[in-house]
Amino acid sequence: MTSTASAEIREPASGRSSGFVTTSPLPELDHLFRLFVLSWDLCGTSAQAPESTRALGLVGALLDRGARVAIVTDASLDALAPAIEAAIAEEPRKRLHVAANGGDHLFGFDHRGRPIEVVQTVDRGDVLSFMMHEIARPLGLAPEDVLVVGEAYGLAGLADILEQQLALEAELGPFAPPRDPSWVVVESGFDVAREHEIESLLTIANGYLGMRGSLAEGSSVSRPATFLAGAFEASSDVSPVPELVIAPDWGRLRFTVEGEPFGVETTSMERHHRTLDLRRGLLLREGLGTGPGGHATRIRTVHLASLANRHLLLEAVEISPHNFSGTVVVDAVLSGDVKSGSGSSHWAGFEPRHGLVGPILVGKTHGGLELALASRTTAADPGSLEMRCEREVGPVSAMERCTLHVRLGEPSVLHRVVGLFTSRDGTAPVQRVELLERQAAGTSFDALLADHVAAWQARWKQSDVEIDGAPGIERALRFALYHLIATVQPHDPRCSIGARALSGEAYRGHVFWDTEIFMVPFYVHTWPEAARTLLLYRHLTLDGARRKAKKLGFEGALYAWESADTGDETTPEFVRSPVGEIVPILSGLEEHHISADVAYAIWAYAQSTGDERILGEEGAEILIETARFWVSRGSVKVDGKFHIDRVIGPDEYHESVDDNAFTNWMARQNLRYAAAIARGVGSAKAAALGVTPEEIRHWEEIAARMYLGEDPRTGLIEQHKGFFGLEYVDVAAYSPRTVPIDVLLGRERTKHSQVVKQADVVQLLALLWDEFSPSARRENFLYYEPRTAHGSSLSPGIHALVAARLGLLETAARYLEQTASIDLGNNMGNAAGGVHAAGLGSLWQAVAFGVAGLRTAPEDPETLIVAPTLLPGMRRVSLPMQLRGRSLQVHALPGEVEVHVTSGTAPIGLTAPGKAGATHTVRAEPGRAYVARREEEGFLAWEEIEP
Ligand code: BGC
Repeated sequence: MTSTASAEIREPASGRSSGFVTTSPLPELDHLFRLFVLSWDLCGTSAQAPESTRALGLVGALLDRGARVAIVTDASLDALAPAIEAAIAEEPRKRLHVAANGGDHLFGFDHRGRPIEVVQTVDRGDVLSFMMHEIARPLGLAPEDVLVVGEAYGLAGLADILEQQLALEAELGPFAPPRDPSWVVVESGFDVAREHEIESLLTIANGYLGMRGSLAEGSSVSRPATFLAGAFEASSDVSPVPELVIAPDWGRLRFTVEGEPFGVETTSMERHHRTLDLRRGLLLREGLGTGPGGHATRIRTVHLASLANRHLLLEAVEISPHNFSGTVVVDAVLSGDVKSGSGSSHWAGFEPRHGLVGPILVGKTHGGLELALASRTTAADPGSLEMRCEREVGPVSAMERCTLHVRLGEPSVLHRVVGLFTSRDGTAPVQRVELLERQAAGTSFDALLADHVAAWQARWKQSDVEIDGAPGIERALRFALYHLIATVQPHDPRCSIGARALSGEAYRGHVFWDTEIFMVPFYVHTWPEAARTLLLYRHLTLDGARRKAKKLGFEGALYAWESADTGDETTPEFVRSPVGEIVPILSGLEEHHISADVAYAIWAYAQSTGDERILGEEGAEILIETARFWVSRGSVKVDGKFHIDRVIGPDEYHESVDDNAFTNWMARQNLRYAAAIARGVGSAKAAALGVTPEEIRHWEEIAARMYLGEDPRTGLIEQHKGFFGLEYVDVAAYSPRTVPIDVLLGRERTKHSQVVKQADVVQLLALLWDEFSPSARRENFLYYEPRTAHGSSLSPGIHALVAARLGLLETAARYLEQTASIDLGNNMGNAAGGVHAAGLGSLWQAVAFGVAGLRTAPEDPETLIVAPTLLPGMRRVSLPMQLRGRSLQVHALPGEVEVHVTSGTAPIGLTAPGKAGATHTVRAEPGRAYVARREEEGFLAWEEIEP
């Protein structure tokens, strides 16, 4: 098939019960449709007839592949239900809709495959526009992705169309874009102004490295970059702090079609789509364009960074000449011609080589890191493709130049396997990369791809969140989890996660509290091993924290506000503002809550996983050293309280403040945890750690004396000393705005106002929820929320979380939307610098801890509190959650909440809030399922149900 066509949609013919017809003859269907709207009143055939069974079987197969299907039928759902149940399994049924009774009742199906009514009455004549409105639009489906099949084709014709679609998918193999719109990010066309932001969003990564989704052949604005996790070199910034190493560009491909370069700026593009396949971790691209010589060519590519073997990078290329037979040259390049955004070249030199199986680029950075990259390009089917590849090496590059004889209408497919090792992986990176290439040569490309897809599948099984009724949030959450999964290296404690993950150069790859407070909770509950590794990074960098404390005249450990590889402070002292001003940065000197944030994360991890080992070993050391820091950091003043002066809290608009509440409360927790651990490990171990009983008592005393800034009457907390006396500014009056509020108001006025950059006291509520009374939670949220300008991506997600817990549904929904759009909608205007990893983590927290209302019971970590609050429009939120060695699956529905204990060896407590402050708890056994049904403002007692 050579062209794309979808069935044309005509306006509904009045008086027809099914509401629409389609044109004949059969359209050519060389496009993978994502939503099928099928008229089922075909020839009055019964639902059990063989034609119906065949067609329903094919519907099931399409649903299995992620497509959405809407069946419009004159019949009632009851008449169709048995046939649907027989043909379609429960899982895929979730993507099916049935508009029964001529379309006036629209049903969906829940997680158990039971029908749920979505909408009751539809104007019978308007079913199609209703479908577009109710199903296609919320999923962000383009009209070209919707196939409407009307009565004209008959049941057999319908089945033929569906079969053709399935066959096309098989034919496309890895190049087939996913059907399910809630698992993709699609960028169509080419927009110079948005290109840098798109490169960030479409990053592919595997924790070992991350590669921006730049166009393989480049463009005038492309900024490709491959980051090596944990590897840093000096930047050329105003303050030359370390920055993530930019590895040689391995994904570069150049296409020459009959002597003319093929690319978005040289070729007239009829079609150009880039698709990030979140489920399989692939970046797909399709470009159909005609060069100046009139040669029309379609090029499809797939790029991936293998999650099964993190040293392996794969590319597949399909070239289809549309109106000629001739020559296409593909250059597959390894290029060391790379510079960082700060203008730094990290590479001291390169030594390109002709390797045993393909070209190799060997390089060494100024800091002494050695790297070896090897590439091997082959024809997918050597028997049918005329191709000759030559190797060329230049001073800083190595490449394969493959000349293909392409034939009209016949796709030619190439595979490229790239290997990467550095001296951080051990000795002899060149030998290792050659060995890897040789091993890969003995395995089929499809098998390497399948291993990668299987690794992603395993991760999604532990992580995927479904939100029925809020497709935009569901997709944004998958986008968030995709990046969080892709950016963590679960076995290497030398790497943590930078503020922009492995997707961009903002903040130079530095690690902030973003990791421990915003991202780690996701890993704790879906990938505890990764969470542990991230925390061990703080143990490896503890000496850096000790050095910083000492340098500033304190005891113990003060973590770097911005951390790189050694743990020494890497916050730049100055930065250049967008208007060229040199601005001093005080966070490295004053933002000290980081030490307590690390301590909090260790404690919370141990509580939620039951990993006592970390508390006895590395965690103990961290808690003790950070507690010592706090003791030295403040002092008891005349009021008998312990005060901490001159800090920056999360709200960075207010620098050098005294008694920032967030800092003091978190420091108090840090001291308490340290005391509990030092008591818990026993006196011998405590003595080995150099802790005396007097020191423990001292921590406890300081914790008890900590100044908390709380009004005992109202529970309102003053963000820092003097905050209540500052100028009130109506933040809402400055919305909507495209520049941060501190720029609008000016730094000085902002500093002397109550405008808060990001969740600060509200952040405290989220973290230490059980320390506050219900009225104090409410009071503080209602006071600070209108004063907060969300000048940081860390802020809206936490507001969504707290608002959901407080039952402020509209507010929660608004902040959830805002969080979901930080990268996908670039609503902060700076996604070009990379995705906002903390914002992504906060989206998960807002849904898991806020909407689904999950948290461990304060008095018993073996009990999970389950208190969901579905936001407007949500029909179901389902998510997996790991807790102390058990795997749970939670389904929150408007009328009930179900919890399945899918694995574990011992029961776990589940507590749901009942009426008037009562609670219901059940000891939930592994392998069993429980439901609590809602009654008015609480839940009834748990009942066991069929799993
Ligand atoms: C925020 C910090 C955050 C940093 C990195 C800043 O704008 O105020 O809280 O850690 O960005 O994301």
